[in-house]
Amino acid sequence: MLVDQVAQTYGDGLKLPAFLQQLKPALRSLRNRYDVDQPQVAYDAPSNQAAYLLAYYPHYVRQTDRVLREAAAAHPGFASILQQPTLNATLIGSGPLPEGLGLLQACRVLGNMPVVKAISMDINAAAWSPARRITRQVIKDWMQRLAGYSKHSPLEVREQVFDLADAQPLTPEQQRSFGRQDLVIIQNCCNEVKHQPALFAKLQQILASLPCGSAFVISDFQYGATNAAIQSLLNSDVVKQHYHVLHCPQRKIPAVTAPSVLQQHLFERSNGLWARRVVKYRALCLYRHS
Ligand SMILES: C[S@@+](CC[C@H](N)C(=O)[O-])C[C@H]1O[C@@H](n2cnc3c(N)ncnc32)[C@H](O)[C@@H]1O
Repeated sequence: MLVDQVAQTYGDGLKLPAFLQQLKPALRSLRNRYDVDQPQVAYDAPSNQAAYLLAYYPHYVRQTDRVLREAAAAHPGFASILQQPTLNATLIGSGPLPEGLGLLQACRVLGNMPVVKAISMDINAAAWSPARRITRQVIKDWMQRLAGYSKHSPLEVREQVFDLADAQPLTPEQQRSFGRQDLVIIQNCCNEVKHQPALFAKLQQILASLPCGSAFVISDFQYGATNAAIQSLLNSDVVKQHYHVLHCPQRKIPAVTAPSVLQQHLFERSNGLWARRVVKYRALCLYRHS
């Protein structure tokens, strides 16, 4: 269970109620920071990682799952990617990697359980390493509960430090790596990238490097910075010439209900500590046809 994993990893031996009470300032601070368009968050702080895993991560697993399933229902190209036996996926700005579990859940709904060879690229890739271990364990536990599948985790992860705001073009090695991907996801990240022109250029370089038959997904809350990044892609030649576009400007899904121990000891109705009821996002899903 996620709560137990988080307490074991970050709890310093505290009893669960005390650990959760102690996370309240970190959660309040995250809530305040995500209220603004370009937040600065210290993701290397263990309390911030723990609060993120409990208060945001479950909803973002669901977000990945929903975005991918909507794309698959809308276009056979997206569906065929989710039905491959092996899937190379680069997950940019993925931090604790909720995209890994969300991707597997979307594949499973389509009757598939691929081996996912993931590259987790993030400016804080090293700092998030304990949280990615939790994702691997959560996936293992999920697999144990599923009948008819191997009990081994189908997710292999390599981490890479990568800065979307780096003004340098992609290296030849990075271009080759993107050229082997079936799927690239950038979820809940673009709004944190400080240098917008560099971000727009980087996204276009990534799109130019992807192979035919691959997909690229941005999904995020309706932040001004994300909207601008999506608009820059819609206006770009690379998208107009080579990609089928599925644009979902506004979506609202129910949040995952928090377990009672979190309702009792972490969440409150006010004061920046509310439990989320809905997840709102927009998404741009691109499928490379030529
Ligand atoms: C809100 S978290 C989202 C994590 C995950 N994608 C999710 O949906 O839960 C934002 C992530 O973006 C990463 N990030 C922020 N600025 C970045 C940049 N310039 N380049 C790459 N990653 C960045 C952060 O380190 C963090 O892991």
